[in-house]
Amino acid sequence: MQREELERQAATRRQFLDGFAHHILVCAGLGCLHNEEIIAALREIIAAQGLEQQILVRKVGCMGLCALGPVVLVLPEETSYQTVTPGDAAEIIAALGKQPIQRLLLPATLPFFTRQHKNVLALSGRIDPESIDDYLAAGGYTAVFKAITEMRPTDIIREIQESGLRGRGGAGYPTGLKWSTVAKATGKKKYLVCNADEGDPGAFMDRSILESTPHAVLEGMIIAAYAVGADCGYIYVRAEYPLAVKRLKLAIREAERKNLLGHAICGGAFNLNLQIRLGAGAFVCGEETALLESIEGRRGLPRPRPPYPAEKGLWGSPTLINNVETFANIPPIINRGAAWFAGLGTEKSKGTKVFALTGKISHTGLIEVPMGTTLREIVFEIGGGIPGGHAFKAIQTGGPSGGCIPAEHLDTPVSYESLGALGSIMGSGGMIVIDETSSMVEIVKYFMQFCRDESCGKCIPCRVGTAQIFDLLTKFCGYRATRADLASLEMLCDLVKNTSLCGLGQSAPNPVLSTLRYFRREYLDRIVDPIPPSPEDKS
Ligand SMILES: Cc1cc2nc3c(=O)[nH]c(=O)nc-3n(C[C@H](O)[C@H](O)[C@H](O)COP(=O)(O)O)c2cc1C
Ligand code: SF4
Repeated sequence: MQREELERQAATRRQFLDGFAHHILVCAGLGCLHNEEIIAALREIIAAQGLEQQILVRKVGCMGLCALGPVVLVLPEETSYQTVTPGDAAEIIAALGKQPIQRLLLPATLPFFTRQHKNVLALSGRIDPESIDDYLAAGGYTAVFKAITEMRPTDIIREIQESGLRGRGGAGYPTGLKWSTVAKATGKKKYLVCNADEGDPGAFMDRSILESTPHAVLEGMIIAAYAVGADCGYIYVRAEYPLAVKRLKLAIREAERKNLLGHAICGGAFNLNLQIRLGAGAFVCGEETALLESIEGRRGLPRPRPPYPAEKGLWGSPTLINNVETFANIPPIINRGAAWFAGLGTEKSKGTKVFALTGKISHTGLIEVPMGTTLREIVFEIGGGIPGGHAFKAIQTGGPSGGCIPAEHLDTPVSYESLGALGSIMGSGGMIVIDETSSMVEIVKYFMQFCRDESCGKCIPCRVGTAQIFDLLTKFCGYRATRADLASLEMLCDLVKNTSLCGLGQSAPNPVLSTLRYFRREYLDRIVDPIPPSPEDKS
């Protein structure tokens, strides 16, 4: 199908949608239960009142505020309702064009809405994730049209390089540089991989993007494949994400039907075949080389690097691996230009970042903010602070590989560099808020148990070290540790960090190290032969 035909179809869909006086959008994300019943109740009342030509009820992706779901958005009024039940349907319809229902109303001035800057999530909660026509009508695939019909692969790579986009999967590697390495690599066959394994406890950014706007990820992948010269790609997604898998499969099928995937895309000479590979839920399979092993049909064990996948990846061929959110950032960069993206964020961390807010926070959910937003703004303004009147104690960023940042650093602007300087990492964007009622040692023990269980066992420092660190933490939690245990804990963390083969082992000690730095007193209070407090102890 040619570009002109797809643009005509998009215009037809827009015209259809514009024909309704009101749209009622119901979140159909995994967190908003009973959405099917709400949709059915709304449609039943609309049919009974003969309002089918005036009111359109649509299921959409996640609107972000999962704590107050199911959320319903009424357009064009932009009225948001919280914790909606099927029993509210009649009242919602009766209130259209009149005063909103006060008991359900989510104020438009809520910082959760006003303080965000949506780029990747711009269409999340606005379109039906299961309709390619909705995506096209909202301007979807225009970046593919532009890239394939107006730009050379080198122009695209330059644009991505100039944007300053860095990989959102955790390491923050410059995306344009990775693309240019794959493009320059020699080899007849090149592959493309989307890493949708997302195994960090508390993280659901990638799941939500895939469930809400699967076509945005496909669009980023198509542009990437064209830029680096790949004609075959895989989306590696964990089987525990059934809704994401279902919507991805549908999206691929619809894109193929419209000739946005497959042979001679948009009538040109570029071909791309995309397939889904299901992961079985091992955290280590998110590590890029383990992921490649898994796609090739072997057990997911990391390979030593170099060679890096960009040079020698799937079946020995150059392979571009990027994260879901990285790919979802590509269409807006191509549409709006590198300068626009580079104008957002900090000097070295450009653009916006999606974070999953969980733990002891009022507004559990998904947010997107410019890099450089402070932790305080995220927790206390957008996140609504700590429920139950408790005091903030720490925020854990970066998942099991990350660190715990205390209250004294709440004014830190979030960036790859600033979080690294505090002994934590940005990771893929999980943020777990911890309040004064939680013990840091207990929390760290939980993360270490996770790493111990998820260690693939290939290298000794990680396989044995994470188990030994876990045992020591168990002694601290049981108030049975000694000063010698504290010394062993520090020595082991250092050893595992510096000698493990892959990122799992190399970063597993981070939660311990950051809490030893900021919450050392909690460890000291749990040893049987205590050391008297010193002025350096922070807590
Ligand atoms: C133990 C471990 C788990 C990882 N899990 C993921 C994951 O689930 N998703 C992801 O995108 N990257 C994950 N990564 C990072 C990948 O190895 C890789 O850096 C990333 O997919 C590259 O994409 P990006 O440049 O777009 O960030 C993980 C790394 C490690 C060490
Ligand atoms: S560091 Fe851990 S997860 Fe990585 S290869 Fe070694 S044992 Fe496996």
